[in-house]
Amino acid sequence: MKIVHYPDPVLTTPAKPVTDFGPRLKQVVEEMFLTMYTEKGVGLAAPQIGISRRIYVVNCAPEQPPEGEIALINPVILKVEGEQCGDEGCLSFPGIFVQKVRPGKVTVRAQDVNGKFFEVTGEGLLARALVHELEHLEGKVFIEDIEPAEFIKVRKDLESMKREYKKAHATA
Ligand code: CO
Repeated sequence: MKIVHYPDPVLTTPAKPVTDFGPRLKQVVEEMFLTMYTEKGVGLAAPQIGISRRIYVVNCAPEQPPEGEIALINPVILKVEGEQCGDEGCLSFPGIFVQKVRPGKVTVRAQDVNGKFFEVTGEGLLARALVHELEHLEGKVFIEDIEPAEFIKVRKDLESMKREYKKAHATA
């Protein structure tokens, strides 16, 4: 599956809840994991492949997949604790990294591909990924709410991404 790049409007559109836990959902989740591994990411949200639904996948484990795979459907944040600051990127913004403050620890409640509810608690990179991907479902991208100094560093890259997008989507 192809990754949607900034500034595609699907990235800034709030995603709709999943209501159908049929075979199509399982297929989408499977393809999302494959796409994430191909692109060497640790998280991927459905809007990033053009599907505006509340689905995301993460895998921050160092072991061979399927170890560490988590698929979250209709996720909500239950609890955030502490703070961490570090470099963060996004598959929809290739080559762009900014310093970003995130919770140090987070607990998310979601449904699995069968509709069963579960909770996951993550620290460090997993906490960062769980929050980053959930924000994609709210139509929020990671370059929002960054320090002005960080924004200045990536401003030109963002402008060129906008130009590329415009060129690729220009009508004849
Ligand atoms: Co992202």
